[in-house]
Amino acid sequence: MTELILGIESSCDETAAAVVRGAREVLSSVVHSQIDEHAVYGGVVPEIAGRSHLRKILPVIDGALDQAGLRLEDLSGIAVTQCPGLIGSLLVGVSVAKSLAFTHNLPLIPVHHIEAHVYAASMECAEPPYPCIALVVSGGHTALYRAESPLEMSLLATTLDDAAGEAFDKVSWLLGTGYPGGPEVSKLATEGDRTQIRFPRYKPKDGSLGFSFSGLKTSVLYHLRGGDALAPTPEPDKIERRADVAAGFEEAVVDALATQSLQACRQERLPRLLVGGGVACNRRLRESLTERGAQRGVTVTFPSPAYCTDNAVMIAGLGTELLRAGRTAGFDLDAASR
Ligand code: KG4
Ligand code: ZN
Repeated sequence: MTELILGIESSCDETAAAVVRGAREVLSSVVHSQIDEHAVYGGVVPEIAGRSHLRKILPVIDGALDQAGLRLEDLSGIAVTQCPGLIGSLLVGVSVAKSLAFTHNLPLIPVHHIEAHVYAASMECAEPPYPCIALVVSGGHTALYRAESPLEMSLLATTLDDAAGEAFDKVSWLLGTGYPGGPEVSKLATEGDRTQIRFPRYKPKDGSLGFSFSGLKTSVLYHLRGGDALAPTPEPDKIERRADVAAGFEEAVVDALATQSLQACRQERLPRLLVGGGVACNRRLRESLTERGAQRGVTVTFPSPAYCTDNAVMIAGLGTELLRAGRTAGFDLDAASR
């Protein structure tokens, strides 16, 4: 029998549910984004996020079952994001998943959110891509992994400070382009010239792998202040060549991500790269990494944009693999922020 898995995601600011058949076939996907609730604060407010999940989670699950034309009793298991994320948000998804699994006597499958972002990219590959290198770039994470299979990933490098998505969000705040910053900065960047302003790219001195984006953010800030660290930051409408700043910043992030990812492929002698997480929606990153990868014999796979940002399809998909491997949890399952 082909498994029918309900996935539930509530780690940050998207409440999502999806039904996937046989690990790959998407029967339904519902995502409720909280962006409007957090936009005025310029970032995710944990308490607002938790309460919003509480209000939306059952309607979202109901919608996903409805879209798939299924009832809870038809399912083979319930997969839920168990870590990492905002604890008050994770608890909502985990509590609901436990209750549904308990009352319907279904296996409960805990899923690691970052591994699920990688799985999203593998779902778009015609053949299993393993072993491969995986780059996860989101609002909370920027890391490179070596993946032997969907269930065996080892960390190669991470960021010393900000995640790439966080840098987009902070620079967007400086440029006055709104929240979430990634799509807005990227849109503004299309009107600019990415060769006009060269911002620094971090590279570990010893040639090892690693990311850092806080220096880049500071150098955008100093640029806006005319090179004088103590000068006031200009209002967004007074910023000169605002689109060039956006384009130069985006190019610096993309260059750092592409250089390090391709170095990881070379070091590990793996010609396959999977990319996941919200920043994987970025058009310039998709274009540049695909092109630079091809020049070095590396095939790069990105999920469709809807499966780059937080969604429950990736949770149900990876949940199916975990169920096959017998990696289910007891009803004492706890959520973990890290
Ligand atoms: O994976 P995700 O939905 O949530 C986390 O797990 O963090 O990623 C959200 C992040 C935000 O920082 C957002 O600004 C960024 O992904 N993002 C983008 C783009 N679309 C979303 N960054 C750059 N370019 C984009 N087109
Ligand atoms: Zn995510």
